[in-house]
Amino acid sequence: MINIAVLGYGTVGSGVVEVINTNHASINKRAGQEINVKYVLDLRDFPGDPIQEKIVHDYSVISNDDDIKIVVEVMGGVEPAYTFVKEALLKGKSVATSNKELVAKHGAELLAIAKEKKVNFLFEASVGGGIPIIRPLNNSLTADKIREITGILNGTTNYMLTKMANEGADYDSVLKDAQEKGYAERNPEADVEGYDACRKIAILTSLAFGKQVDYEDIHTEGITKISDVDMKYAKAMESSIKLLGISKKADGNVYAMVSPRMVGKNHPLYSVNDVFNAIFVNGNVLGDVMFYGSGAGKLPTASAVVSDVVDAVKHTGTNIMTIWEQEKLQLGDFGDCKNQFFVRVAKDKEAMAKELFEIAKEVKCEEVSGEYAFVTEIMTEAEFSEKAAKVEAISSIRLA
Ligand code: HSE
Repeated sequence: MINIAVLGYGTVGSGVVEVINTNHASINKRAGQEINVKYVLDLRDFPGDPIQEKIVHDYSVISNDDDIKIVVEVMGGVEPAYTFVKEALLKGKSVATSNKELVAKHGAELLAIAKEKKVNFLFEASVGGGIPIIRPLNNSLTADKIREITGILNGTTNYMLTKMANEGADYDSVLKDAQEKGYAERNPEADVEGYDACRKIAILTSLAFGKQVDYEDIHTEGITKISDVDMKYAKAMESSIKLLGISKKADGNVYAMVSPRMVGKNHPLYSVNDVFNAIFVNGNVLGDVMFYGSGAGKLPTASAVVSDVVDAVKHTGTNIMTIWEQEKLQLGDFGDCKNQFFVRVAKDKEAMAKELFEIAKEVKCEEVSGEYAFVTEIMTEAEFSEKAAKVEAISSIRLA
């Protein structure tokens, strides 16, 4: 029997306990021994809940118990998670976490400690909820040099954008709905401003290129400026608007960015709707591969966490090699990034727009009047922002 402790009995923590109880026999069979939740750390008490007998309020009880071989960290936030996880690893306990803030900020250091101590630091649930993406990147796509990762990495915003497009629903009500369904972060800003997707693309980029990507270096835009008029244009363009995290190798540099994009109907991410996430990866010998599934929510996320627990049990005494060095990866300059843009300007700016931009296509939308809309040829971000300011663009959305 192997004893584990769960830090945090919130949405994901209670999901972890539920998954272990529900699939007890098959999980134990796959792990090769029985997995027992010995402690659950939470500030709160849960009177009447069977979990109460396992609740502890003091982390040192877990940390000092040599019987605890695996710590599941599902509290979220950098502190105290970082202190607890580091302590656990230093004491020779493996850690499974869903905490993308922790992984994005301290992943390289925590992996190095795990390697030194011959234990494991596993974080499948930190990106893409229940979708296996960390393990495939680390263990399966090892024959390739990754050229591109493009992902719908946030379930909340994908759910919101889908409802806005399909039902014409307003922003506040769809956000509330997503929060009630347990998809959203405690602070919804992290979802709607793109910060959550930013941390996730930082983790994927670090793993794909083997060095530390600081998420602060990633240009990030959320969905708060997407309007019902943009949605109408998207329909006219046979496109959907998706919040995409992208990292790409080009001209010897790695570029990374999070922003809403117009995704055309032939693109594999076009019909990834609701809370689903999808991650499209391009490798130099493999070509394209896409991972798709439930990107947020209690049980999908808990499923990924428990899969890490099983992996940790199977690798007791062995560190699973993960290449993510602490050396910083210097990203290419955002201004040099090349994109194509969908742009809306006031009708009286049409002539100026035509003078300033190389226009790839004009966009007509019967439901909108008083505007001129178009798609630019590929251009750099720096050039675009200068010209967009001159023409006083109403809005612009990059193409996928
Ligand atoms: N708030 C996140 C999302 C949870 O909506 O994707 C999963 O990381």
